[in-house]
Amino acid sequence: MLPVRPWADRARLAVFFSRLAVKEHLRPGLHVKPLAAELFLTDNCNLKCVSCACWRTVTRKELDGAEWRDVIDQLAALGIVKANFTGGEPLLRRDAPELMAYAYSRGIRNLHVNTNAVLLDERRRTAVLDAGVRSFNISVDGPDAEIHERVRGVDGSFDKTIGRLTELVEERARLKLRVRMNFTVMRSNIESLPDMMRLAQRLKVQLYLNLATDRTFLFRAGQVTLETRIGTEQINAVLAEVEQLLRADGRFLPHFSELSYLRRHFDDVLQQDLPCAESQLKLMIHSTGEVGGCWAHDAHDNVRDKPIAEIIDSRRYRDDHDRFFAKDCKGCGSNYALNLAWRPSSHLDNLLWHAGLRSLAAS
Ligand SMILES: C[S@@+](CC[C@H](N)C(=O)[O-])C[C@H]1O[C@@H](n2cnc3c(N)ncnc32)[C@H](O)[C@@H]1O
Ligand code: SF4
Ligand code: SF4
Repeated sequence: MLPVRPWADRARLAVFFSRLAVKEHLRPGLHVKPLAAELFLTDNCNLKCVSCACWRTVTRKELDGAEWRDVIDQLAALGIVKANFTGGEPLLRRDAPELMAYAYSRGIRNLHVNTNAVLLDERRRTAVLDAGVRSFNISVDGPDAEIHERVRGVDGSFDKTIGRLTELVEERARLKLRVRMNFTVMRSNIESLPDMMRLAQRLKVQLYLNLATDRTFLFRAGQVTLETRIGTEQINAVLAEVEQLLRADGRFLPHFSELSYLRRHFDDVLQQDLPCAESQLKLMIHSTGEVGGCWAHDAHDNVRDKPIAEIIDSRRYRDDHDRFFAKDCKGCGSNYALNLAWRPSSHLDNLLWHAGLRSLAAS
């Protein structure tokens, strides 16, 4: 296996964020090249989450193995350093580990998988780890089988997912894995947030909160819109308990600044005062080949028709891309944690919260 070069990749990330700062304050037209790619290996799925549109139709004519390998070659040539394999459920594809190994062999050594983990049995886990994947987001949408399966639509999925997650955590130290438990906050489960925090601490796994949205291409459905409607009073009541837990023991839990973002999300999905670094960091390669610049971008071009380099160099793509950074967009809240993480003000807010000078009630 090729050596991982964390310092070289971190240096490139540091340059990326410096360029973003220049873009924000000095040169709004500066083009910032993406460093990461989301690879939607399939839009199909084995679960039926109320918050998601993937499973509601069968997507056909997805990129085949040879087409994905060509995409990966192009991404490597573009200098992409991180590939996130996602979907739909990426592990539904039998060739998923092979494609991951191919990305690694082409020099993309930061490999990450988003999965519901139902298919991550010992054989697949070994194949995915052997391919070089060292980072996992495992989705858990409730602290017990009743809530998780009500949201995720399939009986028996809770025990499977928690079992797979626990097995990964057991391998974490030996293989230096990064494992996060992703909880998507929505109308059907927001009351469970305090219990999810307790579960994360019991499992000793970092909790990440996705915030339900109906704006991005995977999540457009009437039922999803209902899941994004949560009243302010309900959010405030939940966050009061969350804040108590966070003050008692913050291990494995989100930061104050992230919870503060959550507090506004369901009222103001755009939060335009926070630029969207996520849209500059990533390229989105859809399962049927469209190339998008962010989670809610309705992509115009397809890898089946044009090279990726040509697509992202086109005037149309660049204009869209510039607008995204300033949040001249639909807004979605995707990866708000990244958007917060490079802002000194977020770190200051967290320090002030620790000093008792900020509160979720007043943020
Ligand atoms: C679309 S899934 C793809 C990977 C895999 N199938 C899974 O569930 O982890 C990626 C993440 O999106 C989250 N998600 C689902 N519906 C969402 C919504 N409406 N808004 C924001 N995130 C959502 C899921 O919970 C999951 O953590
Ligand atoms: S959130 Fe993930 S597991 Fe749930 S339906 Fe969508 S793609 Fe499938
Ligand atoms: S916040 Fe806007 S620019 Fe960022 S990913 Fe969402 S829709 Fe795209």
